[in-house]
Amino acid sequence: MLTGNILETKEAGRLSFRAPVANDGPAVHALVERSEPLDLNSRYCYIILCEHFSSTCVVVEKEGGLVGVATAYIPPEHQDTLFLWQVAVDAGMRGQGLAKRMLRHLLSRHNMKRISYVEATVSPSNKASRSLFKSLAKEGKCEMREKLIFPAQMFGDGDHEQENLIRVGPIDSVGKTLIGRKI
Ligand SMILES: CC(C)(COP(=O)(O)OP(=O)(O)OC[C@H]1O[C@@H](n2cnc3c(N)ncnc32)[C@H](O)[C@@H]1OP(=O)(O)O)[C@@H](O)C(=O)NCCC(=O)NCCS
Repeated sequence: MLTGNILETKEAGRLSFRAPVANDGPAVHALVERSEPLDLNSRYCYIILCEHFSSTCVVVEKEGGLVGVATAYIPPEHQDTLFLWQVAVDAGMRGQGLAKRMLRHLLSRHNMKRISYVEATVSPSNKASRSLFKSLAKEGKCEMREKLIFPAQMFGDGDHEQENLIRVGPIDSVGKTLIGRKI
């Protein structure tokens, strides 16, 4: 179903993919809180994200509860890039392709037509996250590059790892079709 430029999909009445609204902020906060090793931000931050970046974010509902979220935005200076900020899938729903479906869902929206690259930062030890983007690159028949972007010292004296920038692309129209056909 199309609502404005938001594509909504439903699977067998069980999973519903949609753009978030401000009211989802607290549930997004709770999902991120139970999704280590993600950094937890304030409830206010997630409410604002859901309010202002709704068209580039997606949440997945199952039986009324939030089981997946991908928060993302288009950096003002890089209009061809979708930057994935945080992706989280409820522990009981992992390994079933849900994260990848959220990325496919986002890339299939009308407002993603000019997007050729997907970026994210990942910590070196996060295998699941890296596999997710590798898998997207494979599906879109493009490259995945990785380089250090934020050294560990930037995050203070704690045990935060360095963050590497992952860049998937260029995703051309053929790649988008390949990605979109499996939503
Ligand atoms: C990372 C995360 C979002 C993946 O969600 P998911 O729904 O389980 O991922 P998917 O099932 O869509 O898997 C996508 C790809 O990653 C691979 N993958 C998923 N989890 C993996 C793991 N723990 N180790 C290795 N590969 C993994 C899958 O095999 C799949 O690859 P394929 O398409 O080539 O088979 C989830 O593990 C999570 O919420 N982790 C905690 C939060 C986090 O680390 N987020 C970082 C994301 S930027």
